Amino acid sequence: MTFPQKHSATGTTIFTVMSALAQEHNAINLSQGFPDFHIDTELSQALGDAAKNGFNQYAPMPGLPALRQAIAANFNTRYGVTIDPDNEITITPGATYAIYTAFTSILTPGDEVIVLEPAYDSYIPNIEMNGAKAVPVSLSAPDFHVDWNRVKDAITPRTKAIIINTPHNPSGAIWNKSDWDQLADLVRNTDIVILSDEVYEQLVFDGAKHYSVLEHEELRQRSFALYSFGKVYNCTGWKMGYCIAPPAYTQAFRRIHQFLSFTVNTPAQYALTHILGNDTATPVNIVMQQKRDHFLSLIKQTPFTIHTPAKGSYFQVASYERISDMPDMEFTQWLTKEHGVATIPVSAFYSNKKDDKLIRFCFAKKEETLDAAVERLIKLG
Ligand SMILES: Cc1ncc(COP(=O)(O)O)c(C=O)c1O
Repeated sequence: MTFPQKHSATGTTIFTVMSALAQEHNAINLSQGFPDFHIDTELSQALGDAAKNGFNQYAPMPGLPALRQAIAANFNTRYGVTIDPDNEITITPGATYAIYTAFTSILTPGDEVIVLEPAYDSYIPNIEMNGAKAVPVSLSAPDFHVDWNRVKDAITPRTKAIIINTPHNPSGAIWNKSDWDQLADLVRNTDIVILSDEVYEQLVFDGAKHYSVLEHEELRQRSFALYSFGKVYNCTGWKMGYCIAPPAYTQAFRRIHQFLSFTVNTPAQYALTHILGNDTATPVNIVMQQKRDHFLSLIKQTPFTIHTPAKGSYFQVASYERISDMPDMEFTQWLTKEHGVATIPVSAFYSNKKDDKLIRFCFAKKEETLDAAVERLIKLG
């Protein structure tokens, strides 16, 4: 049997590779983006209660009405936007699934999609699985801002969509209002669809504001906005997310969703409905900013260089120019095997494996995990 090659990515994803290597070498895992601390007990209790109380059968295809209403109310409070929970919100098994489903709803073979790189590694395979072509455009180092002239040059009559991500994985950069306005200028008078991956929307630091595509009235009309509960409630393993899009876009999205997973984990939907109305925990941006600050103060004691502190997300990019001139892939393997700290090479986020000698640390970890990792990294000096 020969299996068709549905996308150009080869081998296993770097996140799986580095986590396995970390385990094999008993290394501290700052590679994959997941917290190593417990979720709020209110949330775990709500999940158990939902299962015990018999909420264990299929939920409605778009998601529990109460959960969709709670999301709409939450966005109204936080962003001042009005969202119709019946016609504009669909609950999904995670954001990665929502991204794939949004692409599948709009792409036909031969379409092009602009991807700003470095990029989350599912985007390009998802585009290619739909017979479309990814057109990568590099963000500009060292702060990974968008060069709008490059995006303009990449647009062709075949451009069907642009996928954007703010706060950004892996760089921790965030978009400002003028980025959205420049995007609007470029797509006005075209049929280009926007996929706005906002999974880290609540993880912005230093009092900065996350600008959502939903706040940009003009762009919102042509956008799928994608979210993950995993990143907000530290439950990445639950794989729960949602898509917010105008009614016609939501209809197209549900046409695919109903034949992919059809519906999503019912007890988790009840638990998330409960927490959206009863969230008394310290806001996740405050928790995560403390972790970023702690990590930044520690990393100063090592020979790594931080060009730009993360403004959002779980991640900090660092340069190892003062330690080695190995390619970043080789460097991260060496660091895992010889020094017991696993990270991700930033070249893994580029389709052409562009190597700027940068690695990505995940700081969404317990203080003692970060302390122990840096204790090992100090020895590199
Ligand atoms: C930019 C980005 N989008 C999407 C996801 C995936 O979210 P989920 O776990 O809900 O599929 C991640 C997870 O790391 C991410 O970094």
